Amino acid sequence: MNQQSNPSRITEIRPKVVFQAVENRFQDQNSEFTVNIPSSAIGGLTLLESAILTSFVKLITPTAIFEFGTYMGATTLLFARNSPTSTSVVTIDIDPDTTVTQNDISEADYLSDGDANDEHLKDIFATNGAIYIDRAEAELKQKIIRIHQDSTSIDPQQQKFMKRFQLIFIDGGHDFNTVKSDTENALKMAADDGIIVWHDFRSQIHDDVTRFLDGFATEHEIIHVQNTMLAFMLLGKYKEILI
Ligand SMILES: C[S@@+](CC[C@H](N)C(=O)[O-])C[C@H]1O[C@@H](n2cnc3c(N)ncnc32)[C@H](O)[C@@H]1O
Repeated sequence: MNQQSNPSRITEIRPKVVFQAVENRFQDQNSEFTVNIPSSAIGGLTLLESAILTSFVKLITPTAIFEFGTYMGATTLLFARNSPTSTSVVTIDIDPDTTVTQNDISEADYLSDGDANDEHLKDIFATNGAIYIDRAEAELKQKIIRIHQDSTSIDPQQQKFMKRFQLIFIDGGHDFNTVKSDTENALKMAADDGIIVWHDFRSQIHDDVTRFLDGFATEHEIIHVQNTMLAFMLLGKYKEILI
């Protein structure tokens, strides 16, 4: 079906809509955040995306955050640094000990093909681990819980994740089935009042994320932040947060 007969239902907002919500909430205060200079490697967030995610943290002061896809841990650390001391950040990535690395994927492939890109990022994670977390100060590390498990095999009930997280960031495997599985689990794991955020919406490489969210948006209100690959869904009282 072409774009004309199936227009996306996803609402577009400018980044400043989120920043205005922060200004309205913290009037007469400077709202600051701390971020690493972005890595030159592929697979991380832009500064604008980091500012949007941190704005969500400021707006909702989550007691618990969940991240699908730790990778180098830069965003895990962003969450840990810019949240209250008592906030816990749980992040999941594949088990490096049981992952068979490929290491022979060409740059041309991983920069153009979504599956090759995912395999390449898995290789990097399995080889190097979450280096940003490893290098962090002890007080930040103690806020972070790392899980090494295929995210499609998690059991929210058994792992005591049900309704526990006010902020969930979905940025693990980008194939359709993994994004669908992570989203279904996120819906169970999200607190009644919460925000679920996806990365790689409208990515040139990971078109499955866009395809999944365009379908998901026929039944849920999804918002895309322009000039970013972030799309999000507001739950419960946070549906009013941008007003
Ligand atoms: C784009 S990177 C995550 C980037 C990170 N969120 C950040 O902002 O810096 C994707 C990560 O998801 C992991 N991943 C891919 N498939 C996965 C799966 N099925 N379960 C858990 N992690 C997975 C990869 O190993 C990779 O480290």
